[in-house]
Amino acid sequence: MLTKPENSPDGERARDVCSRHGNRADELIEILHEVQEELGCVPQSVVPVIAKAINLSRAEVHGVISFYHDFRHEPAGRHVVKICRAESCQSMNGEALCDHAKASLKTGFGETTADGQVTLEAVYCLGNCALSPAMMVDGQLHGRVDAGRFDEILRETLSEAAE
Ligand code: FES
Repeated sequence: MLTKPENSPDGERARDVCSRHGNRADELIEILHEVQEELGCVPQSVVPVIAKAINLSRAEVHGVISFYHDFRHEPAGRHVVKICRAESCQSMNGEALCDHAKASLKTGFGETTADGQVTLEAVYCLGNCALSPAMMVDGQLHGRVDAGRFDEILRETLSEAAE
């Protein structure tokens, strides 16, 4: 027999998170952040559980998840590379950086490399506009990133992890 999403371990944890937030719809963003922290992502299967707990429709919960680029349905890779696609970075050749990142990682935004090492994400301003184009790797901010610098940072990140 199939386990209902609300009775799966992920569903139970999502329900606990909702209940810690008083099952309040206006706490949805906090709930999603907490679920992602606990489960590594917001799996599709917990969307109906959250919706039911806080009395919203599934579409409303989906809408919030897809609007905020921070939330993902699949667990991230070992490293998370966020590239800024907002105006200032765009005007400083940010699109070329995006193209280079996608080509060299052979992955698109919101996706993880085949070896599970790197998840590539788009973000909209990292608060580092003066040093555009900017990116963040595993929470560390980098500015004035071009293709060469991108390769260097990635090489360092992957080799540090291998040590
Ligand atoms: S626009 Fe890219 S850091 Fe602000």
